[in-house]
Amino acid sequence: MESSLDKFTQDLQKQIMEEVRRDYSKTVIDHWMNPRNFGKLDNPDGYGRITGPCGDTMEIFLKIKDEKIEDAHFLTDGCGTTIACGSVITELIKGKTIEQVKQITSDNLLKKIGGLPPLDEHCVVLATNTLQSAINNL
Ligand code: FES
Repeated sequence: MESSLDKFTQDLQKQIMEEVRRDYSKTVIDHWMNPRNFGKLDNPDGYGRITGPCGDTMEIFLKIKDEKIEDAHFLTDGCGTTIACGSVITELIKGKTIEQVKQITSDNLLKKIGGLPPLDEHCVVLATNTLQSAINNL
């Protein structure tokens, strides 16, 4: 039999998910819940690590072949939005040339993930800056 505590918990979870769906795009929720390319790459050709003003850190690892991004991974101790940004940006750059990746801005990433609430927009900046740091480290 369902207790009133179970019902309270289910209602609360439902309410939280409704708020998440209202505030975040499907792309953000998908990559937040099922992050791609999460984890480090051994012996990367390029590596960037940045701690943003919020105190969260992102790392990006790149493998290069024939002047193109062969593989890209990321790590972060940040929030769900930061995880989504790391996941989308590493997917976005695979197969692109180094010159193409140098052109990627935080506005490009913000569009790609379907926008963010203003308070979370710095997560996009952290991911983009970390990517550019990894590219500069090649
Ligand atoms: Fe710190 Fe997202 S809250 S980068």
